[in-house]
Amino acid sequence: MATAAALVGDSAPSRGRWGRARREANSEGYPGRQSRWGSEAKVPSAALPRAEQDEDFRPLALEGAPRPGVGCSIRLRRGGLMPQLGLGSGGLEGREGREAIATALRAGYRLIDTALYYRTEKEIAAGIRLAGLSRSDVFISTKVLQKAHASNAQVRESLAESLKNLGTNYVDLYLIHNPRAGRIKEVWALLLQLRDEGLARAVGVSNFGIAQLEGMREAGLELPEVNQIEVTAYHERHGIATMTMAPLARGRMFGYSDLSKMAEEMGRSEAELAIRWSLQRGFVPIPKSINPQRILLNMADGFDLNPRQMARISQLDSGFMSCTMASPCHELAWDLVSDGIPHPDTWGGNRKGKGKGKQTGSWTDDYQTWW
Ligand SMILES: NC(=O)c1ccc[n+]([C@@H]2O[C@H](COP(=O)([O-])OP(=O)(O)OC[C@H]3O[C@@H](n4cnc5c(N)ncnc54)[C@H](OP(=O)(O)O)[C@@H]3O)[C@@H](O)[C@H]2O)c1
Repeated sequence: MATAAALVGDSAPSRGRWGRARREANSEGYPGRQSRWGSEAKVPSAALPRAEQDEDFRPLALEGAPRPGVGCSIRLRRGGLMPQLGLGSGGLEGREGREAIATALRAGYRLIDTALYYRTEKEIAAGIRLAGLSRSDVFISTKVLQKAHASNAQVRESLAESLKNLGTNYVDLYLIHNPRAGRIKEVWALLLQLRDEGLARAVGVSNFGIAQLEGMREAGLELPEVNQIEVTAYHERHGIATMTMAPLARGRMFGYSDLSKMAEEMGRSEAELAIRWSLQRGFVPIPKSINPQRILLNMADGFDLNPRQMARISQLDSGFMSCTMASPCHELAWDLVSDGIPHPDTWGGNRKGKGKGKQTGSWTDDYQTWW
């Protein structure tokens, strides 16, 4: 979370923005039995405004429940809906993982984030069944295997494998996992094609920095609808929804900042404050937990942060980066990733985060180290 605050730039929430947000209840109800995600009529890509015109895009707005969080969704640039709070599923393996996913779904989470690399896609399919829901009730985001960027055929195979694992014929959101995987122009064009073929309702990227997004824009490419990253203000200007990965900074900042004092004052946990901050900023946080009580806690329900508290959290920026292998790749030069595949020596990963914070040993420490 501290990292998110680090990159946001401004401090207080824009009240005007939320004031403009449409708040009517969705006519399908929530949670619905019919598919409500991305069910809007799609704009054919040929009719989309070119990147140069994207300043005209309407700002992203929240819809649904009267306050940010579970029940709220973000209307994406092309018209699809994405639930605002998600469950990160990296590490949610086996029976415990399936049950954690079902717990979250029963509690009202409707977005689950995964990646072919996480090996949790089958657990997601099983968790949905366990919760008594159908595939269409849940918004699933998954990511291309990075090494599959070597060829278009492998990217297609990566998606085919994800679809098989998930027991579905489409994903709601398909992301490029990391710019370091390279050949971005080719792979992005293919993702747009896969979307037009109906295999993905929306496509986006992850770990992309401003220079890389600008590289796409200047190359005349359609911009992603979502960037999953440790947050940047650039997104808002271009109608890109911000999915905040590792919104708890992997727990490594707990007890090391003013957030712990605030949590004590408010009688809440640091995790709840971090997630509510993210929700009220209009981001899409995807905290991961395998622990049923924490999954419920992470809905950050029953309280709101006032503007002063929002500003106080935004000021916590210490530059700490919890995803030490993934996040630094947002700084890779566009030229390095646009057409070729950058050498791993250029990734700049394995940095220690700046500032205080625990460097714990867990699966998350090395799950991005593969190639
Ligand atoms: N695109 C990428 O490159 C990328 C990189 C990193 C993450 N992600 C996505 O973001 C998701 C979340 O990131 P993350 O798992 O790295 O970090 P995170 O969500 O910030 O933190 C997860 C850690 O915090 C603990 N935790 C969860 N809720 C807690 C609470 N209420 N109180 C105390 N500790 C709590 C979890 O332990 P327990 O499980 O034991 O509760 C786990 O150790 C991932 O699952 C993945 O979907 C994507």
